Amino acid sequence: MEDKREEWGSKLGFILAAVGSAVGLGNIWRFPYVAYANGGGAFLIPYFVAIFTAGIPLLILEYGMGHKYKGSTPLAIARGKKSWEWLGWWPTISAFIILIYYSMILSWSTNYLGLSFSKGWGSDTNTFFHNNFLNLSNSPLELGGIVWYILLGIAFVWIVNWFICYKGIKGGIEKANKILLPMLVVIMIIIAVRSVNLEGAIKGLNTLFTPDWSMVMEPKVWIAAYGQVFFSLSLAMGIMITYSSYLPKKTDINNSAFMTAFANCGFEFLSAIAVFAILGYMATAQGVSVSEVVSSGVGLAFVVFPQVFTTMGSIGTLLGTLFFLCLIFAGITSSVSLTQAVAAPFQDKFGWSRNKVVTTICLIGFLISTLFATGAGLYLLDIIDNFINNYGIVVVGLLEVILIGWIITPEKIRVHTNGVSYFSIGKWWDVVVKYVTPSILIFMLVQSLLTEIKTPYGGYNLSELLLYGWSVIAFGIITALILSKKPWKDKQIEDYISE
Ligand code: ALA
Repeated sequence: MEDKREEWGSKLGFILAAVGSAVGLGNIWRFPYVAYANGGGAFLIPYFVAIFTAGIPLLILEYGMGHKYKGSTPLAIARGKKSWEWLGWWPTISAFIILIYYSMILSWSTNYLGLSFSKGWGSDTNTFFHNNFLNLSNSPLELGGIVWYILLGIAFVWIVNWFICYKGIKGGIEKANKILLPMLVVIMIIIAVRSVNLEGAIKGLNTLFTPDWSMVMEPKVWIAAYGQVFFSLSLAMGIMITYSSYLPKKTDINNSAFMTAFANCGFEFLSAIAVFAILGYMATAQGVSVSEVVSSGVGLAFVVFPQVFTTMGSIGTLLGTLFFLCLIFAGITSSVSLTQAVAAPFQDKFGWSRNKVVTTICLIGFLISTLFATGAGLYLLDIIDNFINNYGIVVVGLLEVILIGWIITPEKIRVHTNGVSYFSIGKWWDVVVKYVTPSILIFMLVQSLLTEIKTPYGGYNLSELLLYGWSVIAFGIITALILSKKPWKDKQIEDYISE
């Protein structure tokens, strides 16, 4: 007989945890740059199309699956269609891999929080970050030595993850989100309000929101929009199915999906406004255009921003401290959700206790993370993140809509979510899941693959991409297939009675 499944203490607790998972590093350092690089204001068109044609429909799908089948991702999928169980394990493995590089970025953020008090990054923030701080090696194949303070930060992140997840859904994850998420929002509002009042802020905001209409027709802009929405809403990572499996029987699904998406989107805009206002200030101070100071995600947070904080004097110390605190809080609530998405399938499948699974995952995760504390850490992040996002997450998302759209049937999930929700979703959702989302995702995937073949990612050579990129994808699929062949504890699939 199955033990009673843990539950959230309240619906608010679930929403906060889901929003906490969605709001992460992706919102703060990824969105502003992706939006800017892909047409500024014009990016908002594909972005909102992506939210309505993939983001919200997939959130409803994942919440519906987790709630209807009451299981972590592999259990929920296996209960829907046994032969597809492996599709539940693949995102579980991807979540584990994301967790590993997430812990590295969080370690950098923690170190930079310490540095922000004394602006310890000096005046040449670029050289400081790459040479002094990261001790960056010459290539991904050259690991170099371990950087001890990065390793220490990684250990800290894993201990926090372990502590929160060890305490369980209600006593750990829900509680942590109830504290961290409101704090995060308040801090981000303070940063945004202060930033828009800086001299030259308007120049940054104009750059962000002035549409470059010629970009709207480019496939790469649409790919970027869908990629951002998937990553940002924590879709196809096994998180949302797992989180909704802890909801009580009578609960609201449809409204929760809309609320999660809008809250995440709102936070994304808030941070983009803050980031570009600060960039506008910097561009004005240096008498250059904003495009000359914008940098990619990692560069923005760890090179450009420290430089701005230095030029600001004491207000820079305050903004710097708050900015890195934001990254840490946003990152922790997401990394906890990733840890839970990895732990729950093993609890469900093998009947192991939460404490045993969480401790084992955190220990193994920490050991693998040591690779990221070497001089090659930044390269590994760059390659793995690209492959997991473009091929791991998008392919899983595509397979999820194919499974629900064409095998389990969307009606089954829609009838279930409508039966428990405040408001019903119409048949439009079936059409989106069956035709619209799969067509767009297939198009995206083909485009990404063609680009990858023409110009291998990031100028890396084939052996580097094979080792850290393609093999990571292959590892996910092979491990997923192996795990899906193992028997379930008790008769969890056979005894499941569909309502
Ligand atoms: N959704 C999380 C983020 O945006 C993973 O970083």
